[in-house]
Amino acid sequence: MSVRQTGPLRVAVLASGRGSNLQAVIDAIEAKVIQAEIVAVISNKKDALALERARKHGLPHLFVDPKPFAGRPDSREAYDRVLLDVLEQRRVELVLLAGYMKIVTSLLVNAYVNRMMNIHPSLLPSFPGLEVQKKAIDWGCKVTGCTVHFVTEGVDEGPIILQAAVPILDHDTPETLAARILEQEHKIFPRAVQLFAEGRLKVDGRRVLIEDGQPVGQAIISAS
Ligand code: GRF
Repeated sequence: MSVRQTGPLRVAVLASGRGSNLQAVIDAIEAKVIQAEIVAVISNKKDALALERARKHGLPHLFVDPKPFAGRPDSREAYDRVLLDVLEQRRVELVLLAGYMKIVTSLLVNAYVNRMMNIHPSLLPSFPGLEVQKKAIDWGCKVTGCTVHFVTEGVDEGPIILQAAVPILDHDTPETLAARILEQEHKIFPRAVQLFAEGRLKVDGRRVLIEDGQPVGQAIISAS
């Protein structure tokens, strides 16, 4: 992992929707639990609540419209080129995908190796992709959860940083389960950012070791 400059960690958040995970990170920064500043909130959706949350907290935010790129053979790369320019201009050190519903291309992934995190509402590698709370219920799982991982080119495949386990109850619907998982997301996402800001995450192949912390085997935070 590259040696950080001094000063608060410069973070960008990419979000497409509600932005509750963005809010959890904002709250942790404002509470001074994380020594970081959010220097850009970027959305591919004009009306994303995430942008409104950024505005309320006085954070720089922008909507980057994907429409002008549609139809081009390199539409996804061209879009990510715009994002990368913004990230580089703002000297972003860590990128957070917080409900960002667009697959990032190798252009962004390669620029932010082990410096881009995603939050996903299952215990990866089980249930990558979409509608994963429903899939976990339908499969008959008794436990699911959420995962923060570094982003690689494979969707939901990168090295796992933190996970939290969440029970699945008999009466659960995808909505009730999603809400229970979300509570844990709001804990482990800021925690992962904090560990990164403290320079305590070491990537060793697929494993992410937490320096001066709990042994890796205990990196799963229980829901209780
Ligand atoms: C979360 O469940 C996250 O795990 C997934 O998308 C959802 C985003 O929620 N990637 P929010 O926009 O952060 O409220």
